Amino acid sequence: MAMQVGRRFALVVVFLMAVRFGEAAQLRPNFYQSSCANVETIVRQAVAKKVSQTFVTIPATLRLFFHDCFVEGCDASVMIFSRKADAEKDAPDNMSLAGDGFDTVIKAKQAVEAQCPGVVSCADILAIAARDVVVLSGGPNFAVELGRRDGLISKASRVAGRLPGPEFNLNLLSSLFRINNLTTYDMITLSGAHSVGFSHCSRFAKRLYSFSSSSQVDPSLNLAYARLLMRACPRNVDATIAVNMDPFTPTIFDNVYYRNLVNGEGLFTSDQVLHTNLLSRPIVRKFAANQTIFFKAFAESMVKLGRVGVKTGKQGEIRRDCTAFN
Ligand code: HEM
Ligand SMILES: *[C@@H]1O[C@H](CO)[C@@H](O)[C@H](O)[C@H]1NC(C)=O
Ligand SMILES: *[C@@H]1O[C@H](CO)[C@@H](O)[C@H](O)[C@H]1NC(C)=O
Ligand SMILES: *[C@@H]1O[C@H](CO)[C@@H](O)[C@H](O)[C@H]1NC(C)=O
Repeated sequence: MAMQVGRRFALVVVFLMAVRFGEAAQLRPNFYQSSCANVETIVRQAVAKKVSQTFVTIPATLRLFFHDCFVEGCDASVMIFSRKADAEKDAPDNMSLAGDGFDTVIKAKQAVEAQCPGVVSCADILAIAARDVVVLSGGPNFAVELGRRDGLISKASRVAGRLPGPEFNLNLLSSLFRINNLTTYDMITLSGAHSVGFSHCSRFAKRLYSFSSSSQVDPSLNLAYARLLMRACPRNVDATIAVNMDPFTPTIFDNVYYRNLVNGEGLFTSDQVLHTNLLSRPIVRKFAANQTIFFKAFAESMVKLGRVGVKTGKQGEIRRDCTAFN
């Protein structure tokens, strides 16, 4: 009898330890301290080199991180290349992800593997690289939590409905972010990433040419800005043409994005609605008035974005090649 109680007790202890271990498997900034102490320096150098070759590296890498996290979690599932073209990156909603973002992660991974083979996940390399491109374009620095494992699922068919569209209203944006444990405040903050980078004309052409039966041009669009966009994006323009998302400081990560919104110069409906809607407007105005406040919020929201759906501990794998499962 006493023996049995003892055994049960032992089982309970083992169970509690497992729970404890699960807690310990949280992300933390110094995760690779003993296994690959220089990982952040190695990634930063690879990213800086790539940025020096082409500016597109900056917006492409930042967007790649966002899209990775919103589909299957931040697990580098977006990095998988499939010969059958049915991986996450091949989805119709594949977001015209620029090749330079993928290339950045591939190059950084190669540099990391040369010094610490088989230790650092592609998901973590993408998270570090996304922070680095923010810093390299003038944005805030922050500590990146690490310890993600790479995912084992990457399917084009699982993308639909998981990414926000440029025509979304505030409710749709908020609910999609909510599913990912991000608040409306996080959503408004992370939208500031549209301070850098490009968009293809098709993503906002409706706002210029066929908004509604009563108004060809979206009335929330500043008229001078609408004319500028019409010059850059005439009707039926070549599908490869893209414009700067921030017409004033397109290569600098700053709060000009929010000042543009205050002036009716948001490129997408999903941008402009943040100022049109009275619920989000005060936050837009706050960020427009004070870049320090925006930078602090952006750093915090990026850390939260980096926690979405992560695999830790023994889940997933550490990919050798970011574009293929082991
Ligand atoms: C809030 C909802 C969002 C919507 C509806 C949205 C939508 C879009 C669209 C339609 C484009 C243009 C793609 C193209 O035509 O090539 C774009 C570009 C971009 N997005 Fe977003 N996005 C959102 C949030 C975010 C977030 C949270 C981030 C990062 C934290 C982000 C980063 C970027 C970047 C950096 C680009 C430029 C990409 C490049 O130049 O290659 N976006 N976004
Ligand atoms: C997006 O995916 C479709 C197939 O679903 C493909 O035809 C198209 O070329 C892809 N676009 C980009 C920019 O990768
Ligand atoms: C911006 O906000 C920061 C932090 O709250 C504050 O210290 C600073 O004085 C503000 N700057 C301006 C120009 O209002
Ligand atoms: C959101 O947070 C809850 C509680 O921490 C967690 O169980 C869930 O997996 C998270 N969801 C995502 C998508 O990260």
